[in-house]
Amino acid sequence: MARVLILDFGSQTTQLIARRVRELEVYCEIVPCTTPLAKIKAFDPAAIILSGGPASVHEAGSPRPDRGLWSLGVPLLGICYGLQVMSEENGGKVQPGRAREFGRARIHVDKDGGLFAGLPRQLDVWMSHGDQVAALPAGMVATAHSDTCPVAAAFDDKRRWLGVQFHPEVVHTPDGKSMLARFLFDVCGLAPSWKMGSFAADKVAEIKRTVGDARAVMALSGGVDSSVAAVLLHRAMGQHLTCVYVDSGLHRLGEVEALRQLFVDDLKMDVRIFDASDRFMAALEGVTDPEQKRKRIGHIFIDVFQEVAKDLPRCDWLGQGTLYPDVIESVSFHGGPTAVIKSHHNVGGLPEKMHLKLLEPLRELFKDEVRRLGKELGLPDAVVQRQPFPGPGLAIRVLGEVTRARCDLLRQADAVVRVEIEAALARGEVQGPLWQWFAVLLPVRSVGVMGDARTYDETVCVRCVKSTDGMTADWVELPHAVLSRISNRIINEVRGVNRVVYDVSSKPPSTIEWE
Ligand code: XMP
Repeated sequence: MARVLILDFGSQTTQLIARRVRELEVYCEIVPCTTPLAKIKAFDPAAIILSGGPASVHEAGSPRPDRGLWSLGVPLLGICYGLQVMSEENGGKVQPGRAREFGRARIHVDKDGGLFAGLPRQLDVWMSHGDQVAALPAGMVATAHSDTCPVAAAFDDKRRWLGVQFHPEVVHTPDGKSMLARFLFDVCGLAPSWKMGSFAADKVAEIKRTVGDARAVMALSGGVDSSVAAVLLHRAMGQHLTCVYVDSGLHRLGEVEALRQLFVDDLKMDVRIFDASDRFMAALEGVTDPEQKRKRIGHIFIDVFQEVAKDLPRCDWLGQGTLYPDVIESVSFHGGPTAVIKSHHNVGGLPEKMHLKLLEPLRELFKDEVRRLGKELGLPDAVVQRQPFPGPGLAIRVLGEVTRARCDLLRQADAVVRVEIEAALARGEVQGPLWQWFAVLLPVRSVGVMGDARTYDETVCVRCVKSTDGMTADWVELPHAVLSRISNRIINEVRGVNRVVYDVSSKPPSTIEWE
């Protein structure tokens, strides 16, 4: 299978380049721009993409790739800073632009130049740069320009070097994906070869080779990542895989039952469901600080998991649903290159404590690929399309002190929110895709009147947001009829609640969760 390498010069959108390439069914990986040539060669890339980045080639210490890259003979595509560094290092010239260009721009295509075949001669693109290329290296010619940027795109058909000043990877460049397709399929001669069906088969074979007859244990939360990872490991290991579900009492309505039905009854997997809700509730008694809640929950989870695992047959491996964005070595430049390596453990601390080796079958995948893989493995939409749910569960949605009674109350209100919004989505009353929709129990009581009696009861807040990655989010303008149904049902059906409010704050400056 042909593989593409992406050299990361620190752009915010480097991951998007990888997403687009993979959507075109070509496998790719991101590495820091300073990766030595020997490592690049060992990867055996069919093409290399140089990402954008925040630096200027004129700054001292601005990031440069290994010089050997220029004589490697592999097709190159430089994006923004990637094009500038390619030009500067090979006899071209980069100069500060007359005006910083940021946002939508229109380019005029002068030649097909490897990227533009079949596209109109005027294209909307997304620009984000201060510097621009004033002179190209020998052999490279400009293939597109804009009113302020003479080299919006460039091509050297002998060396198969291409460059663009704009960002083809973002949605604001509507034809960007088509340009990347022309680069991969026409210029580099690649074919789509990265398919989820073959990924599953290859992965199962690889897991079998890796673990042999050994056993593995894995924490199953019911979320998309751990569910897909568990099913993949189960395909490879059968009953040599034991999953542990720790019931914290902080889950949503019906979750434990649905998990039992799917994994135990339908898929016949070895899942030990362990009710530890008393311990979680005891540890949360009197705790109101959100970070304290998170810490205590994390510790108990590890303790309970270890205790359960002690009674299992001896294991050598721990399965985890780690994804690609968690393992990319992202590069940031603050004057000079500093590699910031994100280390990530879904179940922090466990592998070291338990002397287990890690099995992470999803570590090459993005979230949308995990969803496709889950579908490929036959998991139902209810699991694969599940909305994100925070690890600490309802504890960070019950504001103030967490008690079993308040969790029960929130569970009922949350179920109403979920059912009503999902029904509205199905009827087309609400336009998806939504990121999260849930209820929060506020630490506020207020006066109400029910029948002839005065009440002094709890307040439920409804939260519904759109987002692409959880980093920013917009509150959704739910139709009044939907809000009205939710409010009526919660107040009528959930005893102890006499007021429902809707959260109309976006992130930033708010966050999605309230704690
Ligand atoms: P915020 O509230 O920071 O949430 O805007 C962004 C996304 O992260 C989820 N979230 C968490 N997930 N453990 C998790 O596993 C946590 O402690 C946690 N806090 C927030 C949140 O649901 C949203 O999708």
